[in-house]
Amino acid sequence: MDLPKTLLGEIPLYHHESVLTEEVVAYLQPRSSSRERQGGTFLDVTVGGGGHSLVLLQRGAERVVGLDRDPAALRAAQARLAAAGIPDSCLRLWHLNFADFDLQQHGFRDEQGQGIPFDGIVADLGVSSPQLDSPERGFSFRREGPLDMRMDPGADLETAADWVNHRPVEDLIDIFTRYGEERFARRIAHRIEQSRPLFTTTQLAQVVCQAVPPAARRGRIHPATRIFQALRIAVNRELEALETLLAQAPTWLKPGGRLAVISFHSLEDRLVKWAFRTDPRWQVLTPKPVCPSELEQQRNPRARSAKLRVAARRAAL
Ligand SMILES: C[S@@+](CC[C@H](N)C(=O)[O-])C[C@H]1O[C@@H](n2cnc3c(N)ncnc32)[C@H](O)[C@@H]1O
Repeated sequence: MDLPKTLLGEIPLYHHESVLTEEVVAYLQPRSSSRERQGGTFLDVTVGGGGHSLVLLQRGAERVVGLDRDPAALRAAQARLAAAGIPDSCLRLWHLNFADFDLQQHGFRDEQGQGIPFDGIVADLGVSSPQLDSPERGFSFRREGPLDMRMDPGADLETAADWVNHRPVEDLIDIFTRYGEERFARRIAHRIEQSRPLFTTTQLAQVVCQAVPPAARRGRIHPATRIFQALRIAVNRELEALETLLAQAPTWLKPGGRLAVISFHSLEDRLVKWAFRTDPRWQVLTPKPVCPSELEQQRNPRARSAKLRVAARRAAL
């Protein structure tokens, strides 16, 4: 993506607190003592506001390729990295679903014109704070907005409104059960069907509240939480993208290169754990997931559910 030069005074308003940054740096070793990995080339497949990319570059990485589906995130990352003094030559940003990454097309090239494999890859899955906090994106049931939920607002994908208003009720039951692990999936899906058409986030949240038994309305977690999560995962085909990433990443890495994945959902974490354990191209470096410290959780409550898993690419593919 050709991003316009952003002047310092025009840095877009975008605040996302990066999670587990020290742990990611410790595993990806941008300034390793081994000569081969010194000042290496890294891929940040979920660049967001550029938090992980910036720390990698400040701690010795020579170059970073950053991807995001969300053009607003790319603008923010570009502005933040430029403001931190990162030269353009060290950075390449692409507006891209990481499932569509192509090393030859999007990576840095060597003198022979071949895509240079990476020393490390970081994937910080899920949504960013600005996505959640912008009512017009439709991710949050707490703020009135259109039922959209596409991470890339220009993507040719069904929106959340398309799902709730046009999908058969069986499809809704399926995603609420699988992606939301919602015990009242059936009741909620039927209630939605009876209430069609629904246009806004708060309308949907209200319908969900009406569908669940009164006791479930008084719980610690808002009854719409799991439904919104399920719709977001379905709209953005998040698990399909993650499966592609896990299958392709070994071919984007140097032998010994590492993949660090931060997930926020048990379904994502299960996919990562399974791929690392069963794909012979990976050597697991985190037998148990690494979680944020108490201090980090206190500082940033959104970090609470984060889990980091890391694996290294074995020499032979
Ligand atoms: C948790 S945020 C990343 C924050 C970033 N690590 C930072 O420190 O600022 C997740 C980002 O990943 C992006 N994203 C999620 N799935 C993606 C995919 N399949 N391809 C590209 N970007 C994706 C979202 O748009 C969002 O900006």
